[in-house]
Amino acid sequence: MNKKTIKEIDLKGKKVLVRCDFNVPYDENRTITDNRRIVAALPTIQYLIENNCKVILCSHLGRPKGEVKPEFSLDIVATELSRLLGKEVILSKDVVGEDTVKRVSNLKEGDVMLLENVRFEAGEEKNDEVLSKKFASLAEVFVNDAFGTAHRAHSSTTGVASYLPAVSGFLIEKELNFLGTTLENPERPFVAILGGKKVSDKIGVINSLLEKVDTLLIGGAMAYTFFKSMGYNVGDSICEEDKLDLAQELMEKAKAKGVKFMLPVDTKIGKEFSADTESKTVKYTEIPDGWEGFDIGEETIKMYADELKNAKTVVWNGPLGLFEFEQFAVGTNAIAETLANVDAVKIIGGGDSAAAVEKAGLAEKFTHISTGGGASLEFLEGKKLPGIEALQDNEG
Ligand code: 3PG
Repeated sequence: MNKKTIKEIDLKGKKVLVRCDFNVPYDENRTITDNRRIVAALPTIQYLIENNCKVILCSHLGRPKGEVKPEFSLDIVATELSRLLGKEVILSKDVVGEDTVKRVSNLKEGDVMLLENVRFEAGEEKNDEVLSKKFASLAEVFVNDAFGTAHRAHSSTTGVASYLPAVSGFLIEKELNFLGTTLENPERPFVAILGGKKVSDKIGVINSLLEKVDTLLIGGAMAYTFFKSMGYNVGDSICEEDKLDLAQELMEKAKAKGVKFMLPVDTKIGKEFSADTESKTVKYTEIPDGWEGFDIGEETIKMYADELKNAKTVVWNGPLGLFEFEQFAVGTNAIAETLANVDAVKIIGGGDSAAAVEKAGLAEKFTHISTGGGASLEFLEGKKLPGIEALQDNEG
């Protein structure tokens, strides 16, 4: 990926529109519960301030679907960003309307402003040309730093890039370096850990990783589809009956490629989907009717930890159990702790696995934790992300 970055364009003193992914989680009191995406945008914003730019930030928050809905206002982000930067962040009342135009014209060098939620505009998700031009009319340079939204071809991620010099920010550059360059040329052994609910969500990434890794460790509910495809009873566990052949094909492909494909050997099962349900650990071949698999068992934790000890590159996407419930977070936490002490390049492919590592307080022990969810997955699948494709190529 050879895209121009913010360092390779003259932007001193200019008006710069920056697309960030400030789509952060918040609770019923509108308190942000995880500010990682805002923190991750700081290097680009600070660089622009240092270069005396007039910084115009924009982002979506949630899915207001083209309507102005106050519960999706970026006011909470403006407050948090202002706290982190230690300076005022001017919040515009609209996206590309009168208020924004007026505030942009009043900006002084080094000022930072934030447009209201770009998804308040009906044209945003349609990549509407008129809206894209309006975004472009606000600035002289466009910087995309919204890695988490790079898989969406929207007005503020791709459309606007047709009308302004468009480069990547430091966050996108960093994500591409770790998820792209590092994993293309991994130090070996290269181990991937894949969890999550469904095989169908991970077909692309399994196929793509089978071309690269030495070992693939499977966890999460998708393991039960593999067990069922091998002819075992999985009780009430989540299982995609229509993906049994596919599960077999993936295991055969791994064999043909010489990739060690590891499934759990035991599993922690529960009576029902609740935090304090009765539970026990059984062999994967012995899941009784009326029980549901929610986590990997102790034997599996040991087996996977042994495998990870010698790894030199690890990529992890998807929790290994129902980590939202404490008694079924044991496998995910144990693997996170094991990895924390492994001397390897350790990359977390975003989403729930990133949340799990954060929750366990181990984030600083990892080489890179992606800010993308869907975007990281699509990137790991080898798909082209429109938000990145739209940026200028580096001719050098
Ligand atoms: C995400 O959280 O994955 C991104 O911000 C994209 O959000 P979206 O799925 O609503 O487009």
